[in-house]
Amino acid sequence: MDLCDQLPSIMSTALEGRVAQTVGATMAVAAFPAPVGALAHVHRAAAAPLPAEVIGFRDHLTLLAPLDDMTGVRRGDRVRLFRTGRTLSVGEELLGRVIDARGRPLDGKATPVLTHRVELNARPPNPVERPRIDRPLSTGIRSIDGILSCGRGQRMGIFAGSGVGKSVTLGMMARYTDADVNVIALIGERGRELNEFIERDLGPAGLARSVVVVATSDEPAPLRTRAALTATAIAEYFRDLGRDVLLIMDSLTRFAMAQREIGLAAGEPPATRGYPPSVFALLPRLVERAGRSSRGSITGFYSVLVEGDDHNEPIADCVRGLLDGHTWLSRRLAGRGHYPAVDVLESISRVMNSVVPEEQQRAATAVRELLAAYRDHEDLISIGAYRLGANPLVDLAIRARDSIHTFLRQTIEERSTIEEARTQLIQLVTSWAASKSGGTAHPTPIDVSANTSSLSHANTAGRISSPRSAASARPGA
Ligand SMILES: Nc1ncnc2c1ncn2[C@@H]1O[C@H](COP(=O)(O)OP(=O)(O)OP(=O)(O)O)[C@@H](O)[C@H]1O
Ligand SMILES: [Mg+2]
Repeated sequence: MDLCDQLPSIMSTALEGRVAQTVGATMAVAAFPAPVGALAHVHRAAAAPLPAEVIGFRDHLTLLAPLDDMTGVRRGDRVRLFRTGRTLSVGEELLGRVIDARGRPLDGKATPVLTHRVELNARPPNPVERPRIDRPLSTGIRSIDGILSCGRGQRMGIFAGSGVGKSVTLGMMARYTDADVNVIALIGERGRELNEFIERDLGPAGLARSVVVVATSDEPAPLRTRAALTATAIAEYFRDLGRDVLLIMDSLTRFAMAQREIGLAAGEPPATRGYPPSVFALLPRLVERAGRSSRGSITGFYSVLVEGDDHNEPIADCVRGLLDGHTWLSRRLAGRGHYPAVDVLESISRVMNSVVPEEQQRAATAVRELLAAYRDHEDLISIGAYRLGANPLVDLAIRARDSIHTFLRQTIEERSTIEEARTQLIQLVTSWAASKSGGTAHPTPIDVSANTSSLSHANTAGRISSPRSAASARPGA
């Protein structure tokens, strides 16, 4: 950023107002026409100056949200403008560091020497200048790399309830991905979880090529929203250096909740489930900043909390429409010890077909078809009412179930690449095509060599296939 860019946002820091009243956790300041987003200092009599952010206006008063504990603020305290532009210092030395939402180190190590300044609220790359996503990214999670493959520059949601394995899965990605740099935003986590994530899930090797930005649940809402912006701005910095960045945000729901607090405090009306309209305006602005540019890419993984299978949860609903795919982690699978608990049939990657060879696409479709066939007949199978031979696709789904699950499961310490995932998936599917049962060669409903879906193959052969399995079998459907 050069000086010319900064000139329009420069205001005199001599601007000064007085605290007139507090409204909940916000302060209303008289005679203080600072712009929204500006940072001010409230000079308290008995404590250090309190940093606060301008979040809006009401009547003749300017509303400020404190960025620290508000204790000691009194009516009439002096408020002084500190900075209008929202910028961040960045540089290579951020790698391997844990920082807070304002870019200050939290890991007790020396202050990094940061050579560049970037805009915290940068605009997304021009949509017409965005190159197509055409190269895959190895996430290190076999089920995702095999069946829900992601491209460099794709934005994915990880949808899950609490305790289903989001942090562990995202930590595995950070360790095993072939991205050049990871930027990880931990927003609204419990304080205890931070060290757990850094030491257990990320480990020293993962941390070495990561920047971790943290705003725990006890921090004020402006810092929790800011952590998301800080992480995105750091990811943009590395992308503009030509790197392929993996941006992990855990969680986007807590970011939305923080923005809800700010919006409501600024007097916005609550709309869907208490979320004010600004939340739904901000989410697309944030996630659009990830993606591919002419220089590098930011692949975004945004975790979204979905409690109790609530499909009407407004944030999940909004985010699903904004992203290029979603991975659903299922509590039912986690409960059976099936980790990572990726529910393949509930998940899609909208760019998979542009980034992996056809052979892998066909193999992935075949696995989906078998999983769907099994799910549709699971009740019958579990009570022993399914008669082998009634439906060749279901017969094969029963036979292949163990090998599919072995493929989908992965221990925390197990490293995997997209090439390995692809080879194993194709081998798995080819082995069924060649499989025999009871010494007699069975006409198999799965055909990976043909360019047609195995279901249409099964249908032309006059066999039954349920419409439900057909619908869920198509990736991207
Ligand atoms: N791949 C895995 N292999 C074995 N166990 C796992 C795996 N993933 C998750 N678990 C188990 O599930 C537990 C919860 O995982 P995790 O902390 O990642 O959940 P979470 O979804 O991030 O939870 P929260 O919503 O509380 O943040 C872990 O402590 C671990 O026991
Ligand atoms: Mg977690």
